[in-house]
Amino acid sequence: SQTPAIKHYLQFSDFTADDYVYLFTRAALIKKKFKAYEKHQPLVDRTLAMIFEKASTRTRVSFEAGMYQLGGSVVHLTTGDSQLGRAEPIEDSAKVISRMVDLVMIRTFEQTKIEGFAAHSRVPVINGLTNEFHPCQILADIFTFIEHRGSIAGKTVAWVGDGNNMANTWLQASEILGFTVHVSTPSGYEVDQSIAGIRSSESYKVFKDPMEACRGADLVTTDVWTSMGYEAENEARRAAFAEWCVDTEMMRVAQPDALFMHCLPAHRGEEVEAEVIDGPQSVVWDEAENRMHVQKALMEYLLLGRLA
Ligand code: CP
Ligand code: NVA
Repeated sequence: SQTPAIKHYLQFSDFTADDYVYLFTRAALIKKKFKAYEKHQPLVDRTLAMIFEKASTRTRVSFEAGMYQLGGSVVHLTTGDSQLGRAEPIEDSAKVISRMVDLVMIRTFEQTKIEGFAAHSRVPVINGLTNEFHPCQILADIFTFIEHRGSIAGKTVAWVGDGNNMANTWLQASEILGFTVHVSTPSGYEVDQSIAGIRSSESYKVFKDPMEACRGADLVTTDVWTSMGYEAENEARRAAFAEWCVDTEMMRVAQPDALFMHCLPAHRGEEVEAEVIDGPQSVVWDEAENRMHVQKALMEYLLLGRLA
């Protein structure tokens, strides 16, 4: 039977600027209630299935704790302990799992895999990280920026390091929310506008020198040199990325009140100096906590739509 149109969150560009205004406002309310120990349980009797084909700490804890707080429950599956690891076709898995739960979160490799799942799912699907995108992380990062500095529109974000899933998602967000991304990557690891699928290159600028990318930035951010799934390239990447370590010099040329973010896990002494990530401009712990608050708003939105 034909699956009716379902709202999924597979990449940042699945939502409009207006959706994000709603989600950030809603996440702030949900966070406030959490801090006040006030119950907020719109998802009683709803179940979230979480499928992990890659490791996770933050994504698992934030979705699992978040869903329980909303009154629902979770099912946790990994490649190793489900038939996914034994080559059950993704569309069969989607058909089966989505008959029993209300919402699915997937962390996997190729974006085409999550798209294949969503195409056969009866319920909304959320991207918990693919090789190409990490929309829930950027949702949390922008929410964190707004909490500390107000609107991100018109601001400059410096991306230092790999042209990876995080970088692609920042590019999508810049076009939707009206800010600029300064990207500096080693050669061979550039961002690819066609992966981000953005209409133009107006919202981002490419710099050879990471210092130049950071100059005047309102936010400096980076990520691991080697993402999950690329471990075979580890040695080559360590050599290529040596100059792409966010240090106090880079923070010095950014705006005096620039924030530092990292989605974590981090490697001090590789992509970031300990002095920066553990320093006064770093908001990485707020960023991690905010995953839970924004994802609660996201799950509520996908299942119940906009609430007053
Ligand atoms: N930032 C992030 O997604 O962390 P995990 O890999 O621990 O889920
Ligand atoms: N780019 C990293 C992010 C980890 C949360 C990865 O894909 O491994």
